[in-house]
Amino acid sequence: MEKILETARIICLDSLAPTIVRLRLESPAISAAAQAGQFVMLKVREGIDPLLRRPFSFHRIHPDKGEIEILFRIAGRGTLALSRLAPGDRVSLIGPLGKGFELPLDRTTPIAFIAGGIGIAPLGELIAQILSGPAPPQKAHLFYGARSASELLPANTVAELGLPVHFATDDGSFGYNGRVTKLFEEFTACAEEDFRPAEIYSCGPLAMQYHVAKWALANDALSQLSLESLMGCGIGACLGCALPSADSGPGHDLRFVHVCEDGPIFSAGSIKWNQILIQQSPPPTYLFS
Ligand SMILES: Cc1cc2nc3c(=O)[nH]c(=O)nc-3n(C[C@H](O)[C@H](O)[C@H](O)COP(=O)(O)OP(=O)(O)OC[C@H]3O[C@@H](n4cnc5c(N)ncnc54)[C@H](O)[C@@H]3O)c2cc1C
Ligand code: FES
Repeated sequence: MEKILETARIICLDSLAPTIVRLRLESPAISAAAQAGQFVMLKVREGIDPLLRRPFSFHRIHPDKGEIEILFRIAGRGTLALSRLAPGDRVSLIGPLGKGFELPLDRTTPIAFIAGGIGIAPLGELIAQILSGPAPPQKAHLFYGARSASELLPANTVAELGLPVHFATDDGSFGYNGRVTKLFEEFTACAEEDFRPAEIYSCGPLAMQYHVAKWALANDALSQLSLESLMGCGIGACLGCALPSADSGPGHDLRFVHVCEDGPIFSAGSIKWNQILIQQSPPPTYLFS
């Protein structure tokens, strides 16, 4: 698909939580081509600070108005600089990039959406499209977790998505006390809830996605996981976004997928999860066994 370079005017920036900002941009060319699950590489400003573009998913796409929305967490200097811009300022975008979510063919199947932290961002557009379709799913639940209540979107904002939402926080400050994947597993195991998703869409940290993938594979559910990696270019040039592919052979015969071009959406079975090295210093350790 053609990649578009567009200078986008900021329409508004809304602070939704202490570290979460919603950015609405005038972006007629990219909004006309974008799909849920794809992303843009955004340059906050000219110059070398920050030097590289940063990847952001489409949170909402409004082709009729020529606008897109990005939901971002202030994580470092690029996102901090972005949060300090004002309506009328301009940012440079390249997009739409990557492969988007495939919408369910049979919309009557039960669907689970699982979001960890800012992983809620790409699910916003996806949920809106699935729920507004001709035959919305009879059963769809969103499981949404974060480290703490301050890192969640406000409950009334999430309620606007229009489906039952189950919150979890690692510190127990809001909703279920524990990991969102644990909440999901307990909910689906509860006979009274009678909820066995046949399809799962998820976005969040790799450690969370590992548990989602494990559940999907064990329960024979279709899965579409939006995966993150550090991205230098977003267009297949730097090879910095590689993850080990399930096609890898034994021993050192590792093959890789590139999140920016092959993804960011992957099925649970396409990644070699036990090879993912989480860099912790010192020493580097394998998070997954
Ligand atoms: C396909 C894709 C879509 C994304 N969509 C969104 C989104 O919709 N909203 C959002 O808030 N964030 C999203 N991210 C993550 C976002 O790109 C990073 O948070 C951002 O680049 C951090 O930039 P910074 O300059 O503020 O932080 P830096 O100072 O560069 O880094 C701050 C911290 O963030 C980590 N970080 C940097 N880049 C990434 C990255 N690509 N992924 C994960 N952690 C990173 C660094 O390791 C560091 O710990 C997405 C990432 C990818 C790969
Ligand atoms: S980010 Fe450069 S190749 Fe994927």
